[in-house]
Amino acid sequence: MTKRTNGNFILLRNVSFVVSVYRPEFCELLWRSVNPSRFITSSVRRISMATQNRPKVYVTRRVPEIGLQILSPHCEISQWQSDDPVARHELLKNVSGKDALFCLLTDKIDKEVLEQAGPSLRVIGTMSVGYEHIDLEECKRRNISVGFTPDVLTNATAELTVALLLATSRRLKEGIQAVADGSWGTWKPSWLCGSGLDGSTVGIVGLGRIGLAVAKRLSPFGVSKFLYYGRTEKETAKDIGAEFVSFDSLLEKSDFVLGCCSLTEDNKELFNKTAFQKMKKTAVFINTSRGGLVNQTDLYAALSTGQIAAAGLDVTSPEPLPIDNPLLTLHNCVILPHIGSATEKARSAMSEVTAKNILSFLKGQDMPSKLI
Ligand code: DGY
Repeated sequence: MTKRTNGNFILLRNVSFVVSVYRPEFCELLWRSVNPSRFITSSVRRISMATQNRPKVYVTRRVPEIGLQILSPHCEISQWQSDDPVARHELLKNVSGKDALFCLLTDKIDKEVLEQAGPSLRVIGTMSVGYEHIDLEECKRRNISVGFTPDVLTNATAELTVALLLATSRRLKEGIQAVADGSWGTWKPSWLCGSGLDGSTVGIVGLGRIGLAVAKRLSPFGVSKFLYYGRTEKETAKDIGAEFVSFDSLLEKSDFVLGCCSLTEDNKELFNKTAFQKMKKTAVFINTSRGGLVNQTDLYAALSTGQIAAAGLDVTSPEPLPIDNPLLTLHNCVILPHIGSATEKARSAMSEVTAKNILSFLKGQDMPSKLI
């Protein structure tokens, strides 16, 4: 059967998927014909997909339609029908007895949820690239696979990072405010002067997919040097001529410091008083990763005392940021409501990949984007 791993096989697998969307009853037949050996190894689950006992999936939010279109011919879907997060007690109630969970970054998937789901839960698809909301160790222990959505939101998030950097460094918040409140007097030589990217040094903490995509977008602005820091040196750094440096060195030398890494136990509040003290007084700090990367009390102190020049945040802790948070009083702090991936294209693709991760697992196939 291994001889079937040629072009024909791949074509048939694709056909199988297309057919299955419209005529799910054909899917099993086709699958058996192209891959009988895999059929045997996980026949129980696929048999159940072809009969009335279709796998049960719980979707924790209203999500772009494509994800539901992919799942609905094969699965019994129940869904939290709201744009707001599912309440904890509803999540606990509805996850019970499900085979799969389609969740979002706002759903805390911990031991209690997994316990409540029970042994039927085999796969979780999170519609996010971040996964710190899921207890992966507990999932491993229970042999639950987890899929996520890298790649498809890289461009959107990189674009937003650049937008936030420009808005912050060129003081757009103050400019827009001045136009609206009438304090725009006349053209003045030194009014609202910020710092430009031309000739600057940009330091990126976390040169992963998004960090690299940001650097590629910033390069044409005339950046003279890219520095990066992370757990390991990256082969891809050569694409932008970036230099691997220590965290301290990055802080000391960069005009722009960008947080693009994923949040882990090790880097919680990496950007704290000590870090801000090492940065240039003219430095601009941008975070589009996770709010937990920053000690916000220390950031407020750094911004309000002139320790650093400005900050742009697309992520905060908590989210939403309470409207009485002192950071919101600062003219040199631009805060966006976690919209890094908010393009129609990226969000649709995230829903699609999440559904495909779940469906592939249920069919006994490899997930397109598997985390564990
Ligand atoms: C993610 O998917 O983790 C992003 O933060 C969403 O924008």
